[in-house]
Amino acid sequence: MAKVIAVCGKGGVGKTTISGLIVRLLKEKGLSPILAVDADPSMNLNMTLGVHIGETVGNIREDAKPEKGKRPQAMSLTEYFELQVNLSLQEADSFDLLVMGRPEGKGCYCSANSNLREALKKLTSTYRYVVIDNEAGMEHISRQTDGSVDIMLIVSDPTPKGLVAAMRTDELISRLENEVKKRFLVINRVSKEMPLNLPKEMQIPLVGYLRIDPILSEIELAGKSIFELPTNAQIYQDLQDILKGIDEDING
Ligand SMILES: Nc1ncnc2c1ncn2[C@@H]1O[C@H](COP(=O)(O)OP(=O)(O)OP(=O)(O)O)[C@@H](O)[C@H]1O
Ligand SMILES: [Mg+2]
Repeated sequence: MAKVIAVCGKGGVGKTTISGLIVRLLKEKGLSPILAVDADPSMNLNMTLGVHIGETVGNIREDAKPEKGKRPQAMSLTEYFELQVNLSLQEADSFDLLVMGRPEGKGCYCSANSNLREALKKLTSTYRYVVIDNEAGMEHISRQTDGSVDIMLIVSDPTPKGLVAAMRTDELISRLENEVKKRFLVINRVSKEMPLNLPKEMQIPLVGYLRIDPILSEIELAGKSIFELPTNAQIYQDLQDILKGIDEDING
């Protein structure tokens, strides 16, 4: 079974950056095969990882509609989804990228969803690690993945407003039907000078801080991927400390 690490939090807190860094760390630790899942409809994890986007799961779901006539009659929905989802994977060195794309719309093609989940479950089980970059908001986690998450990182900025938003996200997660085994708070964009007071009501265990790292914007502006970040970059060192503390396989 794959170990599933999901990254969530409000808009712009660093989810995609952190997801990309986790994929890089797993790759460097030899913990492949890794499946990176872009579960944000704005779809930019591929840029962070330096790979192209192929077909999206959202489009595959649309194309499976009977009126589209794309699925051969002899093929079951599950078989069709398995094939198409596999074809949609962007294969890179040690990891694959799966792009969820558009979420289910209002008049959703519900009968397809359980077959699609089955296909996704089968796919994810073939990896050692699955890293999910979520969109801000939690609803899709129950809709689009098979659900079970081993480690959920809730990312926040260090502001009081950000931390309150993280607590709300945590509340939402606790109400999901999905099994989320462990939840941790990660505070991103911290500077040494900044005093940090966690709200008294904060119940999510804090696993660490990621400092502000100016190299990130240099890399981004140059159109480079997270793999081109220097190994000794502050943010990468901080992320390694965090993950080693919560996952014994990474610490090994
Ligand atoms: N520790 C950091 N130091 C400096 N810049 C950072 C840091 N963390 C993130 N950033 C920058 O902040 C911006 C937003 O980060 P990112 O795209 O990872 O956030 P996100 O949570 O995925 O956003 P969205 O909700 O829009 O998907 C990016 O330009 C990223 O390079
Ligand atoms: Mg993002």
